[in-house]
Order: sequence, then C-alpha cells, then structure tokens
Amino acid sequence: MEFKNIDKNLNKILTKIAREKVGKDIEPGKDYIPASGKVLFEQDLLYGVEAVLDAWLTGGRFNAEFEERLASMIGNKRVLTTNSGSSANLLAFATLTSPKLGDKALKAGDEVITVASGFPTTVNPILQYHCIPVFVDVSIPGYNANVAMLEEAVSSKTKAIMLAHTLGNPFDLDAVMAVAKKHDLWVIEDNCDALGAEFDGKKTGTFGHLATCSFYPAHHITMGEGGAVLINDPKLIRIAESMRDWGRDCWCETGHDNTCKNRFWGQYGNLPFGYDHKYVYSERGFNFKITDIQAAIGLSQMERMEPFAEKRRYNHAYLTNLVKSELGDMMIVDEAHPKALPSWFGCTFTLKENFPKNRHALLQYLEDHKVGSRLLFAGNILKQPGYLDMPHRVVGPLDNTDRVMNDTFWVGSWPGLEDKHLDYIAEQMVDFVNENK
Ligand SMILES: Cc1ncc(COP(=O)(O)O)c(C=O)c1O
Repeated sequence: MEFKNIDKNLNKILTKIAREKVGKDIEPGKDYIPASGKVLFEQDLLYGVEAVLDAWLTGGRFNAEFEERLASMIGNKRVLTTNSGSSANLLAFATLTSPKLGDKALKAGDEVITVASGFPTTVNPILQYHCIPVFVDVSIPGYNANVAMLEEAVSSKTKAIMLAHTLGNPFDLDAVMAVAKKHDLWVIEDNCDALGAEFDGKKTGTFGHLATCSFYPAHHITMGEGGAVLINDPKLIRIAESMRDWGRDCWCETGHDNTCKNRFWGQYGNLPFGYDHKYVYSERGFNFKITDIQAAIGLSQMERMEPFAEKRRYNHAYLTNLVKSELGDMMIVDEAHPKALPSWFGCTFTLKENFPKNRHALLQYLEDHKVGSRLLFAGNILKQPGYLDMPHRVVGPLDNTDRVMNDTFWVGSWPGLEDKHLDYIAEQMVDFVNENK
C-alpha cells in the first residue's frame, strides 16, 4: 500500500520505533511461553499510524478494504466488521431475530442446538434473546459436537444450530448441514478460532447462513479488539448491516449523507412523511462498528492469514507428534475430521486415567516452568456460576463434556512459536510424568 500520510523520513523513524516493539524472541526456560499471542510486524504498526494520520478515525477506507479483502479471501459475499468476536456472535444471532424474516425469525422460546464445552459468547446470544440452548455432548479427540446426537436433539421448537469450530478444528459440516437442511434450520458457524480452516476444500465460515470471526490478539490475525460477521444471503446482509449500525434503515457510509438520494422523501412506519431517513430505525440494533485504526492493523495482518494458518498447522503437527510418541499411552492428542484442514488455535490434550497426577498438578508444573496453558474455555457451561439457572435442555449424557471440564487443556500452536519452544513444552510434560511416576 502507498502511504498518503507517512513520507520517507517519517517512515524511517516509525519503522525504527516499530522494530523495537515487535518480534521479541522468547527463550525457553527463561521467558514465559504463552499459549497464544499476536505476531506483529513493523508494517502493522505503520498501517495503524497511517490510519491515525488520516484523522478520519471511524470506519473509512481501511475498513472498506478490510471487509472486501476478507470476503474475497474466505469466499463470502459480505464481511461486516465488528468490535469483537462476541459482538459478531450476538450480531449474527440478532440478525436471525429480525421480523423481516417472517415465520423463520428466531423468537423467545425457540430452541438452538449447541455444545456446553465452548466459549460462553457462542451460547450467550441464545440466552440474551430468550431462546433455549439445547446441549449435545462433544466427541473426543475432536472436541466438536457429537453429530450422532443432532437428530435426537431436534424438536418441533428447534430453529437453529450455533456451533464453534473448536480450537480451529472444523466440526463435521457434512453432518451438521444435512440435519439443518432436513429440518430447515439456520446455521451459525462460530469461526472465531478457525480463520483459514477448511472442510472438504472449502473455507469454514462459508457453509452456515452466517459465520463469525474474532481478531483479538490470541486469534489468527489481530486488530487489537475486533471481529466480523460473514454472510452470503442478500436479505441477511441488509439486516445485519442495519443491526450493526444502530438498527438504522439508512445505508450511508459513516460521515456521508443522502446516499439513497431520498433522504427527505420517504414514508416509514408511522412517522410523518419525509422524516429524515438518517434517523429511521427498521431494526432494534447495536453499535458494533470498529475504528479505521483497528481496520488498518487488521488489513496489514491479513496478508499473513495463510502463512499464519500454515505455521499453526506445522506447530500443531510438530508438538502433537512429540507428545504422541512420548506420552501417547497416557494422553489423548486432538484429531481432525478426515475432510478437515484445521487452522489450529492450540494443541489440545486430555489426560487418560493412567496419567500419574491430575490436570491441576500438571498445569501448575507447566506454569512453574514457564509454559502457558489454557482450558477448553467454559469446560461445561452448565457448571459455571453465571449459568446455573439458565433455561436449557440437555440431550443424552454430557460425559465427554464433563471429561473436557476435568481433564482437558491446551498449549500454544501460535505462529510466534518455533521448534525450540515446542521441544521445551514437550520436555516439560515428559519431565512432569517422570517425576511423578
Ligand atoms: C469460539 C469463540 N467464540 C467467540 C469468542 C469471542 O471473541 P472475542 O474475544 O473477540 O469477543 C472467542 C474468544 O476467544 C472464542 O474462542
């Protein structure tokens, strides 16, 4: 990209400053190895400065380019940026509640099939719109919904399926989309942890009616805070655009007026004729928009979407092969569906019964030896303090979900990690086992 605001001299100064801020080496054993992290380059910071110097600040040229480029990279008609992945999930769900969808609109009391061992904001929109989450168990070692339970989960109230591609590992889209088609259900793919993943040669995020991304630093590319909703259907696109932007009927870009050329000449609802279109609200919306500074950083990062996903796959294969060969008899290593090409968010392990100690002891040991770990988010959301009294339905036992809550954890596969970090992580696990045999 040609900079408009940064001349050669300023570029030199900024590049020098930026270089000092990015790409610090992590020395295994001496420095902490986080389970996730951002990988920034000088260019990312320069793009941010260029956007600041536009002095436009709200969504502008960078946001427009980010949305277009991401849509073409993933293969969606429309990408709408949002201020987080959680906002993206809420916006995707809210879109399906629009009265413009008639009988197909989600209403209070409708059921939505999902899983309990994921991130809370995949489930929250269901509850926030007074719908009922219906939980099916997950499979291990894929950590996605056990698709054999989906048919059983469908009732006369079921309207949608909302599932995440767990930790970058695509769920069985053949099975999920077949059930959705058979019962005429909406599908929302929470793609927040899976940017760059594929199923059957097609990018995840292109199968469902709506899909979501997160650009928080732990995720595949970052803009600080940020997210996106991915959509193909023109009707859903229009609803989601409106809902993201306060629920407005008008579709002017920020800072522009009268794009429709009909600003003072319309009849809307029961408003007086000619009521300014800019202040007509056809949905009950939000403001989930991002700044152009976020978009600029995201746009620069987007160039690395594929190489980052590739590096995550390499790191995942490297570490899981080490763990499998050393500890495969006492730890389950995650696996993908045969048609899936994951974009691994981490390397996930579940302790077998013969593991010498419990997960708590292992993770404390790793932490003491400067290896960061994470749990599979909520574990079993039904057991979380904020969810004890939520309205819900459970289909079949959630044995694997409970197992995830008790025995599963993950460590990093993020592109900032090199072989030496992965060797060290595996060594620490082996040392722990040897010390506790
Ligand atoms: C599956 C999933 N969905 C949604 C989110 C929320 O994204 P954000 O942190 O950008 O709100 C996360 C966060 O990590 C996630 O893992």
